[in-house]
Amino acid sequence: MKIHTLTNVHGIEARIMTYGAAIVSLRTPDRAGNFANIVLGSDTLAPGLAGVSYFFGATVGRFANRIANGRFTLDARTYQLSQNDGVNSLHGGPQGFHQCVWSAEGSETSHGTALRLTYVSAAGEEGYPGELSAHVTYRLGDDDALTIDYEATTTAPTAVNLANHAYFNLTGDPSRTILAHLLTINAERYTPVDATQIPTGELRAVAGTAFDFRTPQAIGSRINDADEQLSRGHGYDHNWVLNQSQPGMMTLAALLSDPDSGRSLEIRTTQPGLQFYSGNFLNGKPAADGGSVFGYRTGLCLETQHFPDSPNQPAFPPTILRPGQTYAEKTVLIFRTLPDGSAAPSGSTSIVA
Ligand code: GLA
Repeated sequence: MKIHTLTNVHGIEARIMTYGAAIVSLRTPDRAGNFANIVLGSDTLAPGLAGVSYFFGATVGRFANRIANGRFTLDARTYQLSQNDGVNSLHGGPQGFHQCVWSAEGSETSHGTALRLTYVSAAGEEGYPGELSAHVTYRLGDDDALTIDYEATTTAPTAVNLANHAYFNLTGDPSRTILAHLLTINAERYTPVDATQIPTGELRAVAGTAFDFRTPQAIGSRINDADEQLSRGHGYDHNWVLNQSQPGMMTLAALLSDPDSGRSLEIRTTQPGLQFYSGNFLNGKPAADGGSVFGYRTGLCLETQHFPDSPNQPAFPPTILRPGQTYAEKTVLIFRTLPDGSAAPSGSTSIVA
């Protein structure tokens, strides 16, 4: 296991570990120019122990998010996947990509320093058909953007959905919760879930609900509302349907800011969905007890991805990859600071897709 460091001219630093192709730290400045780590996770946590069921900073795959009953049918054959979330399969199964050591190759490009990670997943691994060659490239540019490129090819038809599972805490202080962060999501609809957190298939309007983040909202302002979806997710743990003008078109997904430190994060993506998870399972228990070290809601994930359970939901954007095709998705994280006295990024009150 190795850790590689990417830096830019402004001193922003991303450390990436080959175990799980994971972001282990991301240091950005606050409005006074003080740098701190804005993601949960640490290279001092032994991989395979503390972090595993929390996916800290990891690349999750072969299929990010849940697949109902860990089962799907493709070309008339049914595949049984490993189940690790009750009867469902979550984030590729217990030995998913977050548990694999990726090979890494660094490079200097005109657009910044880059690290390309590769993992070849054998046919049948965690129940998935086809040998999948997966690549994740992190590139940190002097424009203060961290670009994540995903690519994959397969030897037989399979399901693919790759995402990054970083937990952000823009205060830079992991002992504080993320409830005062302001979040904007560029989505009119989300995918409500059943009692096991599998989408029902409905695309429900966010208007008039606690899921409406079309304008900046404090995460904590409605999180405890009496709402069946919030209780099924134990808070926010849902997929939003991003407003895309065309499938695969790079678009604004979310804006996150911390009014205290002035740090803000803009996320753009080619992916159709965004899982916003408010760290509801973090419990602050020592790792020896299977706990997370980090406290309840001290980090939030904004996982750009395809919708959960897509292989079983024909109306969702497709996630099947066939030999000869190349899976390619891109997500960009842009780090900024807010001017003094401002709470939300300017222009964020009306989002243009
Ligand atoms: C995902 C899921 C959550 C939870 C976390 C890991 O983002 O949607 O329900 O399982 O991973 O704790």
